[in-house]
Amino acid sequence: MSQFQVVLRCFFISLSLLSWFPVALGAANSLIQIKDFGLNPTNVTFYLYVPSKLQAKPPILVNPHWCHGDASDCFKGTQLATLADTYGYLMIFPDSPNTADKCWDVSSNATLTHNGGGDSLGIVSMVKYTLAKYNADPTRVFSMGTSSGAMMTNVLLGSYPDIFAAGSAWAGVAFGCFAGNGYDVWSNACATGTINRTGSEWKAIVEAADPGYSGFRPKMQVFHGTADTTLNPQNLQEEIKEWTAVLELPSTPVKTLVDYYEKGWTTYIYGDSFQATSAAGVTHNIQTNETVVLDWFDLTCSGSKCYSRPS
Ligand SMILES: *[C@@H]1O[C@H](CO)[C@@H](O)[C@H](O)[C@H]1NC(C)=O
Ligand SMILES: *[C@@H]1O[C@H](CO)[C@@H](O)[C@H](O)[C@H]1NC(C)=O
Ligand SMILES: *[C@@H]1O[C@H](CO)[C@@H](O)[C@H](O)[C@H]1NC(C)=O
Ligand SMILES: *[C@@H]1O[C@H](CO)[C@@H](O)[C@H](O)[C@H]1NC(C)=O
Repeated sequence: MSQFQVVLRCFFISLSLLSWFPVALGAANSLIQIKDFGLNPTNVTFYLYVPSKLQAKPPILVNPHWCHGDASDCFKGTQLATLADTYGYLMIFPDSPNTADKCWDVSSNATLTHNGGGDSLGIVSMVKYTLAKYNADPTRVFSMGTSSGAMMTNVLLGSYPDIFAAGSAWAGVAFGCFAGNGYDVWSNACATGTINRTGSEWKAIVEAADPGYSGFRPKMQVFHGTADTTLNPQNLQEEIKEWTAVLELPSTPVKTLVDYYEKGWTTYIYGDSFQATSAAGVTHNIQTNETVVLDWFDLTCSGSKCYSRPS
């Protein structure tokens, strides 16, 4: 395929995706880079998306990229920034300092510890900077991501339960599943699905990230394709055991929705604060459904009645 054909093909693929949304093609503004935003021991780069029309007290959506991708790929890879133009929320696109594979540090003790350092601390500093600078809503801070971005979403919710209101993790792994082997180390055991822990074991791992924390815990939704050969689908089961234990929900679903959110997807509801979707036949390349993410975070809402963490 020539480069022109590729461009044309991407254009038509984008068009077909876009037909779901009554918005223009692509985000209206560009990413801006922000320097000197606070503690950032691993030098994560900070890109911010600011729509022209912001809500009065805008929510913040953090969107960490996947491995071998960067902030710009992530910005262009879904319609979330385009939808920010419509709904007036801010988006943080952190960029991994790890030039070797651009995967997030989801393994170091530092990143898995509240205020311990690692990439997670740099990302949280971006959130704090944005809250102050844009008078954003501290009760409406969210994280979503795919693959390494989903793994980082699990890490952010576990290490910083005081910051986030909710997460949405697409094809990731449980908080702590990659733990224990230094900065940004790949865990074959976790990726291949041989790590199998009980809910109470996972709960202890999450609670050790921020010992003594007893406040509100963010709600979470997780997705995984059954044909994922990069991160074995067992990881969905581990996320389920982990977050149902942490959120003190039943370990079996209270409701099972077939062909939801999409045909071939089965969504297991464990309560208002956790749900898991298994996508039949879907590989690691699971496509973000922006409508689902916006609904979960209630990002189409503005005013005082929107989903938020207690202030
Ligand atoms: C981060 O950047 C600072 C300033 O350039 C440098 O001194 C420090 O060594 C860097 N840290 C890492 C982990 O690369
Ligand atoms: C990280 O934590 C593990 C498990 O608690 C411990 O064995 C290891 O020594 C720690 N590593 C560092 C560098 O602190
Ligand atoms: C995980 O462990 C549980 C309890 O020991 C066991 O019932 C289950 O079969 C294991 N699952 C896998 C995939 O190894
Ligand atoms: C995204 O999810 C919504 C809500 O379940 C559904 O109506 C829509 O068809 C999905 N989009 C795609 C592209 O499948």
